[in-house]
Amino acid sequence: MASPLSSAGPARLVVLVSGSGTNLQALLDAIGDDPEGYGARIVAVGADRDNITGLERAERAGLPTFVCRVKDYGARAEWDAALAAATAEYRPDLVVSAGFMKIVGKEFLAGFGGRFINTHPALLPSFPGAHGVRDALAYGVKVTGCTVHFVDDGVDTGPIIAQGVVEVTEEDTPEGEAALHERIKEVERKLLVEAVGRLARDGYRIEGRKVHLGHVGE
Ligand code: GRF
Repeated sequence: MASPLSSAGPARLVVLVSGSGTNLQALLDAIGDDPEGYGARIVAVGADRDNITGLERAERAGLPTFVCRVKDYGARAEWDAALAAATAEYRPDLVVSAGFMKIVGKEFLAGFGGRFINTHPALLPSFPGAHGVRDALAYGVKVTGCTVHFVDDGVDTGPIIAQGVVEVTEEDTPEGEAALHERIKEVERKLLVEAVGRLARDGYRIEGRKVHLGHVGE
């Protein structure tokens, strides 16, 4: 089955990681040996650092990988252009930032804006940035969760695709950030798999802040 995003079969995904890559693994598991059924397949995995479990998972799955480290470039814009070029080589229909801990720049967004997806471990627009779980705990919220959204030129500010809710309980002390993050990640992996699959299978249209699924090209 062709995806509305690609006339040549399942949509092509490039996934970007920085860490353990459990969200990447969830996508790999969901696609399994039926990319046609899922509507998408991963064509490459990129990272901003070496020696991470996320890259090992990609290699185990037999996928090509690439690494673009900021410190290897004279300026941030050069790193951004290199990341954009490395990603473009795999001609992705969608790019998924799955725990990729870098803010991309102008060139990357020029190439992949409107098809670059991020997953964030808080209910945006609350608690954007690198410490969403910690900040939500410190604020004393009773519910938090995760948000899958398109990336724009702000920090975690792009149009929202899907959100999942996780309760914060009396047991969640400020020291318990890791435990709460694990509970969020359980919800987050399912949310990401479902959101990417739906975008790929049904198509989508972004209208201002609203993401409409199943309305490709309208
Ligand atoms: C996720 O919670 C993501 O939202 C956050 O970092 C975590 C990445 O986890 N930015 P993993 O590398 O997919 O296991």
